[in-house]
Amino acid sequence: MADIHYTDPNGPMYHNGVYHLFYQHNPHSALFGDGMVWAHSASYDLINWFSLDHALVPSEPFDAISCWSGSVTILPGNKPVILYTGIDANYNQVQNLATPKNRSDPLLIEWVKYSGNPLMTPPKGVNGDNFRDPTTAWQGPDGTWKVVIGSYSNKQGMAILYQSEDFVNWTMHQDPLYSASKTEMWECPDFFPVSINSTNGVDTSVANPSVRHVMKASFNSHDYYIVGTYDTEQEKFLPDADFTGTSSDLRIDYGKFYASKTFFDSKKNRRILWAWVNESDSSEDDIQKGWSGLQAIPRQIWLDRAGKQLVQWPVEELNNLRDNQVYAYGKKLKSGSVFEVSGITASQADIEIMFELPELEEAEFMDTSLVDPQLICDRQDSSVTGKYGPFGLLALATEDLTERTAIFFRIFRGDNRYVVLMCSEQKRSSLRNNLDKTTYGAFVDIDPRQEMVSLRTLIDHSIIESFGGKGRTCITARVYPKLAINNEAHLFAFNNGTLSVTISSLHAWSMDKARVNCRGGLENTE
Ligand code: FRU
Repeated sequence: MADIHYTDPNGPMYHNGVYHLFYQHNPHSALFGDGMVWAHSASYDLINWFSLDHALVPSEPFDAISCWSGSVTILPGNKPVILYTGIDANYNQVQNLATPKNRSDPLLIEWVKYSGNPLMTPPKGVNGDNFRDPTTAWQGPDGTWKVVIGSYSNKQGMAILYQSEDFVNWTMHQDPLYSASKTEMWECPDFFPVSINSTNGVDTSVANPSVRHVMKASFNSHDYYIVGTYDTEQEKFLPDADFTGTSSDLRIDYGKFYASKTFFDSKKNRRILWAWVNESDSSEDDIQKGWSGLQAIPRQIWLDRAGKQLVQWPVEELNNLRDNQVYAYGKKLKSGSVFEVSGITASQADIEIMFELPELEEAEFMDTSLVDPQLICDRQDSSVTGKYGPFGLLALATEDLTERTAIFFRIFRGDNRYVVLMCSEQKRSSLRNNLDKTTYGAFVDIDPRQEMVSLRTLIDHSIIESFGGKGRTCITARVYPKLAINNEAHLFAFNNGTLSVTISSLHAWSMDKARVNCRGGLENTE
């Protein structure tokens, strides 16, 4: 197999019965470099994928060095087009258009670059290397097309707004759609509407009182977002609160997760999120294994009922991979107990677990308003006994627990409220050295008096994706156990708090292997 480097998802879409995912790919190395292309995979169910020829490769003056990230927009008449960033012969970032060579090809294999490229070049005041990653475009009430480009200028990260009548001639709006001083260069911005009172998604051009808008930007190794109102007359995005540059800023995922991008799935009326998950081992390791980077399981995404944050959940199609279920109900986990979840393949599993906390008033007091949740998770790790917590799962563990990744909760009592902390601790995930074993953590916006503390965790050899509070807080981790691999991997539930917790319900499944990047296609069984 050739060396493979996968990164950002590009131009995800649903078109004529087929899901498409393009992605940043270096065909020449397991690491990032010049010559990045848009690789292309297609699927009928978002789970099993087959690979197609590269859709965009460097070839013209306007993308001579690389074809970087971008998005697909489906124009009226069901016509998909790509806007992407070309790295031109002078290493400047410019925006280009490509269209399918043959729209009746159900797989849209070949793409043609518009001869009038580039459509947009770095405007005055913007460096040639700070102008990239066009979003999916949307149509204003008057039919004008709008798109934003990630940038950084005047010490502000920003989404520069362009408008067009015909999708070919673009003019920059005088002001960015939004800019923020507490941020760095914005990579892969995403701007999309979410329904106020439904988990259904809406098409990207929808702007009416039934929706709010989300602005997502990738910087500082994380995907941050803000929720707000899109004023289509002023061409301004007005967030409920600005980015603060602190740990209280909302993130799509609090672990390893970057360059995410959403699209509207018209087949099932939902919005789906894709993201790149990088490696936690070294570049030398990546060269040796011949690949690096993967795409997270696609997630459905919607606005929480309280309207303040997003909720994410693995797409329902993932459940088709579930196999031999095991379950437990009403299992009490006394202080210090560890309970093995046996009967499933612990190296490739899906677990849903709910915890009951019968003596909530006994939770320890803590003023959490001034603290960084990730720091608490790191200092009060899974070996540090509290009152309510740490309790949760030990994934990819050896039988003797020398290797284990702990995904756990702690419950604190504050003034008139309870605070739920969720952690993913990689410290003991592997006996190997030279790995990034950073601990991740975030608060979960639930009231444990009203709802049980729940966790869903997807385990697949070197990736663990965890969804706390029914998808309100998500944490993705990459881990490389040395011993807890394949059939040697175990899964446990544990409680290291002084108070007992009860597993109200636990369902766990072995997961079948998805067919990924098969050449030659798959049957459409949908
Ligand atoms: C984000 C990013 C984008 C760029 C692409 C290049 O990971 O840096 O800004 O378009 O990757 O591969």
